[in-house]
Amino acid sequence: MTRIDFTLNGRATATEAEPATLLVDLLRGPLALTGTHVGCDTAQCGACTVLLDGQAVKSCSVLALQAQGRSVTTVEGLAGLTGQAGQADGTLHPLQQAFIDCHGLQCGFCTPGMLMSAACLLQHNARPSEHDIVQALEGNLCRCTGYVNIVAAVKQAADTIARETA
Ligand code: FES
Ligand code: FES
Repeated sequence: MTRIDFTLNGRATATEAEPATLLVDLLRGPLALTGTHVGCDTAQCGACTVLLDGQAVKSCSVLALQAQGRSVTTVEGLAGLTGQAGQADGTLHPLQQAFIDCHGLQCGFCTPGMLMSAACLLQHNARPSEHDIVQALEGNLCRCTGYVNIVAAVKQAADTIARETA
């Protein structure tokens, strides 16, 4: 086992992993953050998407040891993302609220990955067009096919964040 020190959802975290352990397995297993889902395990579906140093990555295609010294945000930490509404008091991130308001989820299996890909988009592009949103989510599959409402939810969240930061 190799020791890993990294920032997880804003907190300094120390743990251990085997060299071949995937980041998603570290998160869901020893760290008990089961909001990150495994849909395919082959980097196809995006259900396992997390932020690694602010970039959306499929955590089934990242080794746990690659998190050394870096910052990982999972859906459990989304509400506390710096610079956006939502803190550790239970307040939802505008994306989470918008997914509820716009019926952006059905079974919810893809939702954590959709949220994290959308969060990455909004951190880099505060006023995305519909095309930008579709492009940002192209690596995330929804087997319930609720894409129209998902795109609407991301648009609503962008509007909310723009209002809150105006
Ligand atoms: S489980 Fe990682 S992309 Fe599907
Ligand atoms: S809401 Fe069911 S997979 Fe997307």
